[in-house]
Amino acid sequence: MAEKALITIGDKQYELPIIIGSENEKAIDITKLREMTGYITLDNGYLNTGACSSGITFLDGENGILRYRGIPIEQLAEKSTFTEVAYLLIYGKLPNDAELQDWNHHLTRHTMIHEDLKRLFNGFPKDGHPMAILSCLIASLSTYYQDSYDPENPEHRQISMVRLIAKFPTLAAFAYKKSIGQPAVHPINSLDYCSNFLNMMFSVPAEGYHVDPEISKAMNLLLILHADHEQNCSTSTVRLVGSSLANIYAAISSGICALWGPRHGGANQEVLEMLQGIKEKGWTVKQVIENAKDKNSTFRLSGFGHRVYKNFDPRAKIIKKACDNVLNKLGIKDPLLDIAKELEEAALKDDYFVQRKLYPNVDFYSGIIYRALGIPTNMFTVMFGMGRLPGWIAQWKEMIEAPGMKIGRPRQIYTGPTEISYSDAKKK
Ligand code: ACO
Repeated sequence: MAEKALITIGDKQYELPIIIGSENEKAIDITKLREMTGYITLDNGYLNTGACSSGITFLDGENGILRYRGIPIEQLAEKSTFTEVAYLLIYGKLPNDAELQDWNHHLTRHTMIHEDLKRLFNGFPKDGHPMAILSCLIASLSTYYQDSYDPENPEHRQISMVRLIAKFPTLAAFAYKKSIGQPAVHPINSLDYCSNFLNMMFSVPAEGYHVDPEISKAMNLLLILHADHEQNCSTSTVRLVGSSLANIYAAISSGICALWGPRHGGANQEVLEMLQGIKEKGWTVKQVIENAKDKNSTFRLSGFGHRVYKNFDPRAKIIKKACDNVLNKLGIKDPLLDIAKELEEAALKDDYFVQRKLYPNVDFYSGIIYRALGIPTNMFTVMFGMGRLPGWIAQWKEMIEAPGMKIGRPRQIYTGPTEISYSDAKKK
């Protein structure tokens, strides 16, 4: 007999179904709770709420496990490419050679952007944050593809997904070039995904540019590590916006805004600025740790802590190792890496961090690699977004294609004033 949960309210007992996931994760299905009892559940910040069932990514925060479609992240990081991982996340299986070739062909056929869209870049201030520019540009793509963005049409879904993955690097690189006053560099479709992006970022019309394969390889690794992370803040945002049947460009644009925040993807920029502060402003590691522990201060140790991981973030382990490798191969000695290691060591020994199970997360070391690759600090979160894009898309597609998809609409417990007439309220 299927297991049930029993809930007692007053002198009444109610039975609720138990759902068990493929990795034996257990949930109480409360969909009918309010109908049966008049009660809702309250879960500020969704600490304990499963918002959907999903077959894409498995994350076990207690044991530091992360798998995409069942495949351990460590193996994908070692053996795969970003576009292959994107296919895996979106279509649920690794592509065979012909499928991968076809997929890569489509991703490179759609890299260009409409000439009119380029004019939008001129409206932004030179120092505008690239995440703001990017979210705006991604939403604006919907104005160019009005005939093919119906989320309920499978063909429209397919072409929109391809367009997004193909055009994201072009838009990101154009935004960067604009910010430094250089001419936009157009995509070259004979280059692979990462090399094409690097070429658009760093080449100039006046001289040749050679994409260093080590740099392209390191970027590929970082994008794979960022590609999905189940129901995090930005992914949940994409699902919520998408659940209204807004088009995919609108949904992804809102995910970019959610990712921007310093408690989420924006942490990679904050980490670098924090490390630079230690180096340049004479802060000591001890001061930074004390400041992060001080409850009168809003400062947090950026790149530390995670809602789900109460153990090492497996991505942080891979990135830390890659950091040493990449810097060695490129012959770079970055004092910020030494400071980061010192900071990590000090935090991991400190009772405050130990008791709260705060470990380095994916953002702690990623900025140091991006810096070594020549990516400017304010583009770090854009890089994260480029990596997360296939995850957002896969989650959006899974939601749209699920039978009985419902608009996301949480409830609340109202704590405001009880009814008062307009004239009585005026007298107060
Ligand atoms: N520095 C100092 N204290 C911290 C930190 C930190 N980085 N992270 C959590 N804490 C403390 C909190 O103050 C809280 O202490 P308390 O119990 O005494 O009140 C306790 O640890 C639990 O923290 P919460 O904020 O309740 O944990 P939550 O799961 O809501 O937050 C989060 C997770 C947002 C990631 C948090 O750890 C944080 O702000 N970290 C720094 C920002 C960061 O690195 N974000 C990137 C996350 S990974 C990603 O999104 C890609």
